[in-house]
This record gives sequence, C-alpha cells and structure tokens, in this order.
Amino acid sequence: MATDETDALSGRRIVIAVSGGIAAYKAAELVRLCIKAGAEVRVVMTKAAQKFITPLTLQALSQHPVATDTFDLQQESTIGHIELADWAELLVIAPATGDILARLAHGMADDLATTVALACRAPLLVAPAMNVNMWNHPATQKNLQTLVERGAHTVGPGTGELACGWVGSGRMSEPAEVLAACVRALGPRDLVGQTVLVAAGPTYEAIDPVRFVGNRSTGKMGFAVARAAVRRGARVVLVAGPTALQTPAGCERIDVESAAQMRDAVMARADGQTAIVMTAAVADYRPKTVAKKKLKKEKLGAAPTIDLEPNPDILAELPGRAYKFRRPVLVGFAAETDDVEKRAVEKRRKKGCDLLVANDVTEAGSGFGTDTNRVLLVGAEGVERLPLLTKDQVADRILDRVVALLPKAGLKLA
Ligand code: CTP
Repeated sequence: MATDETDALSGRRIVIAVSGGIAAYKAAELVRLCIKAGAEVRVVMTKAAQKFITPLTLQALSQHPVATDTFDLQQESTIGHIELADWAELLVIAPATGDILARLAHGMADDLATTVALACRAPLLVAPAMNVNMWNHPATQKNLQTLVERGAHTVGPGTGELACGWVGSGRMSEPAEVLAACVRALGPRDLVGQTVLVAAGPTYEAIDPVRFVGNRSTGKMGFAVARAAVRRGARVVLVAGPTALQTPAGCERIDVESAAQMRDAVMARADGQTAIVMTAAVADYRPKTVAKKKLKKEKLGAAPTIDLEPNPDILAELPGRAYKFRRPVLVGFAAETDDVEKRAVEKRRKKGCDLLVANDVTEAGSGFGTDTNRVLLVGAEGVERLPLLTKDQVADRILDRVVALLPKAGLKLA
C-alpha cells in the first residue's frame, strides 16, 4: 500500500455503494484496500448486487453491517440512510451500472443506494461497469455528463474483454485505480475558510429585446473551477453569464446577462475574496443603444450597421481597486487563436493579474464547449505548459497555484 494513499485515506469516512453487475466482485477488493489504507467504510448494496456477491463478504471486509434496505426497521434504526449520507466524506458507487447512473442522474431515490446518494452532500465517485453498447448508449453518456456537471468524479471504465463476451469499453477500473480516484475525489481541503469568486460563461449584449451580440463560451471551465473550489472547502460565489449548466452544489450563484451586469456583480462581491477567477468570456463591446422594441427589417434596410462601444474590462479593473481587507489573488483567462504564449505573457502584464490561464481555442480538445482543455499557466515566475486535461483537472491545477499564492496575497493587507 502506497503511503500516499494511507496518508490521504486514514480516518476518512467512505460509503461504498455496490450496484448489480458482474464487477460487484471487485467491490470486495476495493473495500479491503480502503480499510487497509485506514479508511472507515460502510457498504450499501442494491438488491441486484446481492445476486453477485453476498452482504456477508462485504460485512466481513468492512467490519460493519451492510445496509441493503431503506425499509428494514432494524437496519434503519442502526444505520439510517440519512445518518449514512451525513456520515460520508465520500460516496463511491462501484460498480456503477447503466441503471444506477440513470437513477442518480435523475435524482431518484427508489432504493437505499440512490436514497443515500440523494441525501449525501459529500463528493460522489462513480466507477462505471457495463456492456460496451450500454456504455456507448447516448442515454448512459448523457447521464454521466449530467453527473459530472453536478460535480461527480468518475474512474474508468477500462477497455478490454468484457464478461458479456464483447470487447470494448465497459470494464470496471481495477480496485487499486478506484482507490487512487478516492484519494483524488477526497482531494486536499486547502481552501477551508477561504472565499473564491468565479465569473463564468459568456455575456450577451442586447441589440433589442430579441437579438444580442454574444460569444461561444459555455461556462464549463468556470463551473469546473467553482466545483473544485467547493470541494476543497472554499465558500464560492459563482457569477454566471447565460449558460445552461447546473449550479454546482454548495455555490452561491448570481446570474447576469451583460458585461455591465457582470462587472457590477463582481465588484459588489470583490471585497473579502481570497481569489477572483475570471473565466468569463466578457464581450469587449456592446451596442451603443438598445432598442426597446424589436427592430424591423423594413426600417433597417438591406445592410444595417450596429454602432458599438467598449464594455468595462472587469479583470483589468480589479488590481487597482481599493480593498478593505486584502487584495484577492487574481486569475485571468485568455482565449487565443495564435501566438498563444507571447500574447498570454503580454496579457498577464497588461491586466495586472497574478496568474493567467491561456488556451488556443482553435486546438482540438480545447476551448469552448469541450470537456477538456490544454492550457498554459502564466505566472510571475514563467510559463507552465499543462497537458490535455479534463476541465475539472485544469480547475484543480489552477487552484493549486492559487493556494501557492495565498501567503503572498496575505501580505498585501490594506
Ligand atoms: N475580461 C474582462 N472584461 C472584459 C474582457 C475580458 O474581465 N471586458 C477578462 C476575461 O474574463 C479574461 C481576460 O480578461 O479573464 C482576458 O480576456 P480575453 O477576451 O482573452 O482578452 P481581451 O482583454 O478581451 O483581449 P483580446 O480580446 O484583444 O484578446
């Protein structure tokens, strides 16, 4: 057992919910590894899981009774589902079948495992395992995406020969990999007591009540930063431009539409923040006048022109602003299409932020709407080039840098 895992998991409270797939046998090894790493483990099994492996096995390994039934009076009085949900520092669903992913995505609570999940505020880690076609089904992929957008961690599935005879994706990750994912999901709690403001998404600049000038930002990167900051213990304010994304659990969300509204929301809450992360794609210009009524084609003519005026630059305003407490660590983003490094270094200097996260939005797997990003982190000490990572991973790397900058920011007390 790597000491890293023992250090990270020692004394941590993990609920492992086992759903009904052939990979349920791997849950036994996972429970054993967690216990060996010093974690306290409680096991929940679905009805179907018990067809594959007995509660007795998992009871012996976890050294605690296994919970199987919400309506069993004795179980409910000794290990009530709410107590279990509150007790957990991490909820792991391993294996997670297509069925339980669907039920989790829809917030169902039709058995003990999903009831605990619905009541649980701890991070959720799912280890999917199913037939390759079930895995590739758009419904499963959508369900997983829903869970990830809500902050769930995933591990696997792996690719190879499946118990059903097919070869492909769907094999549950090995217990040691799931254990490592538990460590990542529990993560550092290095932002407890800190406050982080994240501005995310596009801004819409109205032309008239129907039309606007906007951009392609979806808000995914900013929402990932907000999720990661909550997970690491921060109090998070999320100022969101128009986006279809769900609010990560535990964030205070302020919805805005235009750059001017975003500026006002950010400035109103800037004081007292440990860090401000400007992931938002703020429109640089807005129509000079906003028509109260829908503009009509007949009046506009064949080739109408829209007069624009500049929007406030929110990020550039932040370093020079007066702070009652301390100047927050300021993180800016740069969406570039060419000469990324040079422009990023220059943009960081121009905007006066501590860290600038730059990406080439034309590169495959980076930029608007993707779940991954390849970024450069530009700080005072130089440029760090990160590999292609998920936006959740990028978020954590950014917060690692924010944490490293905290002592310095603390010195700038007004
Ligand atoms: N930003 C901002 N207010 C604006 C424009 C940008 O706060 N009016 C912030 C963004 O949130 C981002 C950073 O500034 O953190 C850089 O945004 P970007 O659009 O890349 O740069 P611009 O300053 O708009 O410069 P250009 O479009 O010329 O690259």
